[in-house]
Amino acid sequence: MHGLDTEKLPRHLAIIMDGNGRWAQERMLKRIIGHQRGVETVRVIVEECSKLGIRYLTLFAFSAENWLRPKTEVKALMALLKKYIKAEVSRMLTNNIRFNVIGNRDELPPDVNDAVQDAIDRTAAKTGMVLTLALSYGARQEIIQAAVQMAADISSGGLNPAALDEKRFSSYLFTSSIPDPDFLIRTSGEMRISNFLLWQLAYTELYFSNVNWPEFSRNELHAALRDYQSRERRFGRTSAQLQNRS
Ligand code: IPE
Ligand code: IPE
Ligand code: MG
Repeated sequence: MHGLDTEKLPRHLAIIMDGNGRWAQERMLKRIIGHQRGVETVRVIVEECSKLGIRYLTLFAFSAENWLRPKTEVKALMALLKKYIKAEVSRMLTNNIRFNVIGNRDELPPDVNDAVQDAIDRTAAKTGMVLTLALSYGARQEIIQAAVQMAADISSGGLNPAALDEKRFSSYLFTSSIPDPDFLIRTSGEMRISNFLLWQLAYTELYFSNVNWPEFSRNELHAALRDYQSRERRFGRTSAQLQNRS
């Protein structure tokens, strides 16, 4: 129906959900209406990814830099986040989804943090898709906190600098329990990473859709995934090497 090979789906799909504000402004609506519509898209895409059998879905919902937006927009976004998380827990439980958050949670308002913790706790035993929201997340900040923690562990004798490798470094990141993304989608036509998962995206396949997030549909998702399935991931090797190995 969707023309996808379910054996070749990305294990981890990450999405930069962008274009809510422009979607609203193009319709002479307030930006927050765009964010509300964006939440509808989140529901559709989360459900579809879970149905398709994607193991990890990570959504960039609020960046460390988004705190710089007007106070009214930040406040409305935080209220929307709390409402979404509280409303979705029961659907997550039904769909066997485990909820997870990456980012600087200390910066979130306490009521949002409580809703986050409650959703994490209640879905902790679920074994299906892992849904990670990046909240107050910035990749450089993540790398710095990892460096600080490593320095502390080295001075306390818990970490031998000579033993530091990619795997050990990764274990200090917020994403320690999830594999690197195989595929990244950014909506709204912007072609940048905006401080998202800088370390983890090293070999991720990138896809940019011109559609604003409120209008990103199942069909758009399928088209993106078909594109992913047409790619050859070489990880530095030659194409011939890959053909010989299969
Ligand atoms: C993405 O939409 C949602 C967040 C960043 C919170 P935007 O709000 O960035 O929408 P545009 O980019 O202004 O259109
Ligand atoms: C990135 O979108 C953050 C999220 C999608 C949450 P932005 O709209 O904030 O990115 P920039 O600042 O335009 O690059
Ligand atoms: Mg934007």
